[in-house]
Amino acid sequence: MPDSQEHLKNDPLWFKDAIIYEVPVRAFADSNCDGIGDFQGLTEKLDYVKDLGITAIWILPFFPSPLRDDGYDIGDYKNVNHIYGDLDDFQEFLDGAHERGIRVIIELVVNHTSDQHPWFKRARKAPKGSKERDFYVWSDTPEKYPEVRIIFQDFENSNWAWDPVAKAYYWHRFYSHQPDLNYENPAVWEAVFDVADFWFSKGVDGMRLDAVPYLCVKEGTNCENLPETHAFLKQLRAYIDAKYPNRMLLAEANQWPEDAANYYGNGDECHMNFHFPLMPRLFMSLRMEDSFPIADILNQTPLIPDNCQWALFLRNHDELTLEMVSDEDRDYMYRVYAQDTQARLNLGIRRRLSTLLGNDRGQVELLSSLLLSLPGTPVIYYGDEIGMGDNIYLGDRNGVRTPMQWSGDRNAGFSRANPQKLYAPVIVDPEYHYEAINVEAQQGNTNSLLWWTKRLIATRQRFQAFGRGTFELLHPDNHKVLAFTRTYNGEHILVVANLSRFVQTVELDLSAFAGMVPVEIFGRSQFRKSPMGFTFSASVPTLSIGLCCNSSKQWLKCCNPNDRNRN
Ligand code: BGC
Ligand code: CA
Repeated sequence: MPDSQEHLKNDPLWFKDAIIYEVPVRAFADSNCDGIGDFQGLTEKLDYVKDLGITAIWILPFFPSPLRDDGYDIGDYKNVNHIYGDLDDFQEFLDGAHERGIRVIIELVVNHTSDQHPWFKRARKAPKGSKERDFYVWSDTPEKYPEVRIIFQDFENSNWAWDPVAKAYYWHRFYSHQPDLNYENPAVWEAVFDVADFWFSKGVDGMRLDAVPYLCVKEGTNCENLPETHAFLKQLRAYIDAKYPNRMLLAEANQWPEDAANYYGNGDECHMNFHFPLMPRLFMSLRMEDSFPIADILNQTPLIPDNCQWALFLRNHDELTLEMVSDEDRDYMYRVYAQDTQARLNLGIRRRLSTLLGNDRGQVELLSSLLLSLPGTPVIYYGDEIGMGDNIYLGDRNGVRTPMQWSGDRNAGFSRANPQKLYAPVIVDPEYHYEAINVEAQQGNTNSLLWWTKRLIATRQRFQAFGRGTFELLHPDNHKVLAFTRTYNGEHILVVANLSRFVQTVELDLSAFAGMVPVEIFGRSQFRKSPMGFTFSASVPTLSIGLCCNSSKQWLKCCNPNDRNRN
């Protein structure tokens, strides 16, 4: 075990209790005034991350790259892009995180490389049928695999691109400058294991497996979720388990629940996977004021092995994807969340949390509360904890990747560089201007979203039931209210969320908890029993439905009234 890991708890299931923070290195803090965030800058900000209550940082690709897809086009898997620092800077960041009890998750982008990667340059020139050529997927016609969808619809019209050097077409699921690796070639497997070794032996704690459903291809299929892909993942998992304790693989498998759950295998593939279908339904339920979309998708979600966990998120560095919804629901989402067509991209919406929700603090709090209480581990996108805005005019997904807003100073305190030199302009939209929306201002006001988020995280961390507990939906008649319980080791948490703009009353059947009274988690006040068995009545104004409203009754703990120690 690398020395730096000694600071961490020896627990293979650490990811179940984690609070993950997603950060592009480029966007967080610039230490050397060149206008680009870097590892030294990130390391300097670790105390901020720790103070927020984060226990794991997921950093986006930082490898040498032409940066035509923000680093998801990798040119060298075993180095650091010089604009972010070097391998020593990376190690310093990793050690600094570990010293603070924070784990680090990096990216394993092995569906594809950049067309500038030496493997591809070599492949184009190598003879047909050679091991080198076969690092990638080639064809003489662009007609092969016609059932396969195009993901970057706004940019590409085929999954094949012609290479004049190889005189053949190569396969790419994303941009045409990102050729897909060929998983039929055992040399590719070896190369990927080698990359995993390189970073795990430095002490990284987890890897997000980018675009993992698309690794293998097969005639007559849609080339997603193939058994061959699962076979590779099982091998990768076994390889890592045998060499490195307490590591985690996080799948990025944007699929329907049944297919997504398959990435857990029998607890022998990935430890975690993002719950893509749940994400848009959280937004739908909120706007429809109806718990059905959330309840329905959770009912369709299979149980997963005990050693696995969903990763939940509201927003990330990509567009809010609407791939895993029906055409009708997609139309609805566009209509209510992206009236301005400039906000639409591919099959999704390029906005941040606050801008999607019209800068409505109550709604931000409500969705964040659900993020932290539904079954899974929450992943928070940098800047959303202060309600950062976005810039839909920046092209591609760059509008949600702007510099972190630290203060009202020049460049939002992100960099001392000439403002024209910044890798992206800071947000100056009047409603979200960095002079008002920034860490420093919010640290100075305990009513700020930042403080509220800190309190929410701290509260979640007091109860392991949120990370590890069972999940049971309640079925109140009033569908504007979503209610569920989480139970772990005899600890019961009841979560009640009012999705309506207006006060609601709701009756909940809590007969399973006979003899117990609910105690509100935040204020610790006890609820009274009514004469008719136990009737729980929650009236919660929606717009402050998070956890801070006067009658915040969303997270309740049921306990024996005589047991005074149990809150
Ligand atoms: C990443 C994107 C990236 C794509 C291609 C995705 O799943 O999240 O940001 O563009 O993979 O690598
Ligand atoms: Ca820099």
